[in-house]
Amino acid sequence: MIEFNDVTKIYGGDVKAIDDISMTVEDGEFVILLGPSGCGKTTLLRMVNQLESISQGDIKIQGQNVREMDKIKMRRNTGYVIQSNGLFPNMTIEDNTMIVPDLLGWDRKKKKDRFNYLMDLVGLNPDDYRKRFPHELSGGQQQRVGVARAMAADPPVMLMDEPFGALDPIIREKVQDEFLAIQKEVKKTILFVSHDIDEAVRMGDKIALLRDGKVQQFDRPSELLIRPNNDFVSDFVGKDRVLRSMSLYSVEDLVTTFGLKNKEDTITDTKEISIDTSLRIAISMLLNQEADQLVIVDRQGQAKGSLTFDLIEKFLHQEVKGA
Ligand SMILES: Nc1ncnc2c1ncn2[C@@H]1O[C@H](COP(=O)(O)OP(=O)(O)O)[C@@H](O)[C@H]1O
Ligand SMILES: [Mg+2]
Repeated sequence: MIEFNDVTKIYGGDVKAIDDISMTVEDGEFVILLGPSGCGKTTLLRMVNQLESISQGDIKIQGQNVREMDKIKMRRNTGYVIQSNGLFPNMTIEDNTMIVPDLLGWDRKKKKDRFNYLMDLVGLNPDDYRKRFPHELSGGQQQRVGVARAMAADPPVMLMDEPFGALDPIIREKVQDEFLAIQKEVKKTILFVSHDIDEAVRMGDKIALLRDGKVQQFDRPSELLIRPNNDFVSDFVGKDRVLRSMSLYSVEDLVTTFGLKNKEDTITDTKEISIDTSLRIAISMLLNQEADQLVIVDRQGQAKGSLTFDLIEKFLHQEVKGA
């Protein structure tokens, strides 16, 4: 768990880069720090591992104040990945990956096993890459090594600053997918900086959208899309774009994608929605009635199951991902 309590960062006496942020990132949660250039994402991330000092407030990792952690403890607790993957050009891939384990004094056997495991995890053959140098790898491969290195000592927390930003769009999607698959297995607590709404919706369990050092909304992606807190949020996520795309799908598409359990007779007083209705209308029905669910009826008027925001969110997630 990472806790931010009234965190403020002031550079040089007058630039308030982070303005009184409080939020909690739960264990195993993948949180995107999203926002336009200069809003404070990198600053917030770098205060977590104390590459930047905290001007006011405090940050705790698993209950411990980061100010009180020494360098070694910080390396054990956090893995850090940056856009220009930060690999040392004159060190082999194995040596690059094992920097933190080296620092922690692991023996050769343990390091080798760990290297093999991590390379497999990020989809690189350990024996093919062990003795190679960063410049012999493609950008995507270097990025994967950067991720492997950050995970080397199995830190509970990963801090990632636009880690895939330098990749071209097609490779980026592939690396994003691979990283999501890895995350399913390793379940780290992740803070991931991005300025790209599509990447954020695709990857994040939650998004913290920042503007001028303040959090505008900290929520699940679907909540930002469907229930933005203010105009800045809706402009940033492009509400119209999302709603427009929602009008391309019907409730039936959603039923086809997920299938539905037969409706239980326990829900009787909820409004019905026809399977032919567009998801755009479905969303506004859910909002307008302030109901948690609608009963889906097929063309014969038979109740088929219930439609909830959660289900729409799941669908949205897939579609944005597939787009
Ligand atoms: N070392 C620094 N000294 C002074 N101002 C800084 C420094 N680093 C960042 N800033 C300022 O703090 C604000 C937030 O920057 P940053 O955290 O890099 O934003 P982001 O990562 O969202 O682009 C910006 O106004 C930036 O100019
Ligand atoms: Mg930045």
